[in-house]
Parts: sequence; structure tokens; C-alpha cells
Amino acid sequence: MKIAILPGDGIGTEIVDQAVNVLNALGEKFELETAPVGGAGYAAHGHPLPEGTLKLAKEADAILFGAVGDWQYDNLERSLRPEQAILGLRKHLGLFANLRPAILYPELANASTLKPEVVSGLDILIIRELTGDVYFGQPRGVRTAPDGAFKGEREGFDTMRYAEPEIRRIAHVAFQAAQKRDKRLTSVDKANVLETFQFWRDIVTEVHQEYPDVALDHMYIDNAAMQLVRAPKKFDVIVTGNMFGDILSDQAAMLTGSIGMLPSASLDANNKGLYEPSHGSAPDIAGKNIANPLATILSAAMMLRFSLNKAEQADRIDNAVKKVLAQGLRTADIYEAGTTKVGTIEMGAAVVKALG
Ligand code: IPM
Ligand code: MN
Repeated sequence: MKIAILPGDGIGTEIVDQAVNVLNALGEKFELETAPVGGAGYAAHGHPLPEGTLKLAKEADAILFGAVGDWQYDNLERSLRPEQAILGLRKHLGLFANLRPAILYPELANASTLKPEVVSGLDILIIRELTGDVYFGQPRGVRTAPDGAFKGEREGFDTMRYAEPEIRRIAHVAFQAAQKRDKRLTSVDKANVLETFQFWRDIVTEVHQEYPDVALDHMYIDNAAMQLVRAPKKFDVIVTGNMFGDILSDQAAMLTGSIGMLPSASLDANNKGLYEPSHGSAPDIAGKNIANPLATILSAAMMLRFSLNKAEQADRIDNAVKKVLAQGLRTADIYEAGTTKVGTIEMGAAVVKALG
């Protein structure tokens, strides 16, 4: 089994190193091949998603991704900016289903900014559509307004659109995920204002007929954002579009205290996937051995489960992470009095040791 390792920028290298150590400690025969991506791709080959990196990602069975983005590349033209690497991989590989679990580990109940009783036991799954919506809709750009009250003035514009098959396939993923959990699905939209999302609601309602065992409800994005901090445990699975999912998943992550704990999977129709931590490249703390590698290590576990058919090994990693948390080991982002502060490398090594 071939795994493409794409560390990227900022803390990407450090955290992916630790996840690779964990993978190597499992005693499986994985072929790991590393390639530069994001700012690192631009520095090495003049493009955030170099041809060789894309080729490797296409031929691999799964991709372990760190994070992209660094201030030094912020002034490049948009097509050369690090973010284009992850957007390009999603689009080129058809990774339309983004699974972002938000789980609160009992040991971290105090790390959340919300009251422990509001978040303790939290276990929700956000499913974000990842290759459509205003993120990819054409046309887009800056132009002279052809009409309207500001005709003749310069304007920026993007296009929000969703085709029926795009909505159907993400709805199927969401209903099937709900079937394996508490059988409750909330579809988040803005059907009261946007044509695209009235259409989304109609199609999700149609697909629901195939999953009568799942309870479906619809919620507007603004209300969903409110309910997510008011009573987050009322949710089980949430499905939504690319843009709303981007925002809601960061918000959900923070309910758990640290975005440094949350993995994610981006899957195509055949469960080939890209696995990455939900957090970004955090260039301000890069190279200091303080970043939390657990989100990336847990992403490697998701990779074993969803793309490589190695659920037992995935369980080993998940259990090892629970063990190091129970031992009181904490990186700076989840540190609190009475626990032991450790660095990125030490945390990774502790997980390797806890694999047993
Ligand atoms: C994410 C990130 C990306 C997104 C950026 C880096 C393009 O915020 O994965 O959530 O907006 O999708
Ligand atoms: Mn985001």
C-alpha cells in the first residue's frame, strides 16, 4: 500500500513526522513517499501543487497531508498561493466528502471555553461538501459591474452553484454516516434566502426517502451556528455545503477545546482519501517543537480505517492517543495545571510507546 506524505508548510513537517513515526511503528508494510506541497511546493518547483506531487497523490492509495500556508507567500498571485494546493488536490482527485468529527475527550473537558456540562461527551460529525459551492463556482473575478445600482464601478464576484448530482452524492454519504451513528442528520442551508440552498434542501429531502431509519431535520446556517454553541450535544451528524461547512467545522472544533485534536478525511466516491488535521499551518509556532501532533496522528488513524481497510490498526492508534491523554501528557494548546507539558516530538514518541 502506497501512502503519499505531503507535509506542506509551517508546523506541517513536524506534525507529519510524528504521524509517520506512528505509522512506521505499526509493523505494517507501507510504502511512504514524500513530496512538497503548498509554499514548499512553490519554493521547490515554482507551483504550490507541483506536477510530481499531483502525480504521486493520484497514484497513491491514500494521502497524509500536513498543512499549507505561510506569510511569505501571501503576496503571490492567487493561483500560486499555498491554499491552491489543497483546493487543487480536492478538485483533481474528486474528494467531495469532507468528514470532520468533533469529539471531546473527557480528559480535556476543561480545555473548552464552554461550560463542561454543555460539552462533556460531545461527539458530532460534520460532513462538508468539498468540491462545489462558491469555492469553485464559475464565473468569478473582478470586473466592471455590467448592471445594477453600481453599474460601471469595479466589483468582485463569485458564483454559488450546486448541481443535483453533487448534492445527491454528499447526501448519501451523510445519511449512510448517520445510519452508523445515532441515526440523526441535520442538513444546514440558507434556503430562506439562497436559490442554491432551497434546491439543496429539496434534493436532501428527496434522498431522505431512501433512508427512512434516519431522522432528518433542516436548519438555517445562522441558527445552526447559534445552536452549536447553545446545545452542541443535540447534533449527531451535520451535512452542509462547502462554505458553511468551512465555518461551522472551525466553530465545532473549538467546542472541544483545541483544534489541535481534530482529524479530518476528504473522500472520493471510492473511499480513496486525503487525511489532514483540521487546523492550519500555524507558521508562528513552526519549528519550536510545541505544535500538537495528535490531530495528524488521528488523521492517520482515519486513513487506516477509511482508505486502507485496517480498522484494527486505526483502533490501536485511537487507543494510544486516549492513553497518553490519560497519562496527563499535554502539548501547550491543551495544557492545564496538574498535567505534564510536552513538545511535539515527545507527544509523538509517547503515542508510539502507547501502541503496545
Ligand atoms: C480548510 C481550510 C481551507 C478551506 C483553506 C486553506 C483553503 O480553511 O480546510 O478548512 O477553506 O477549505
Ligand atoms: Mn477552514
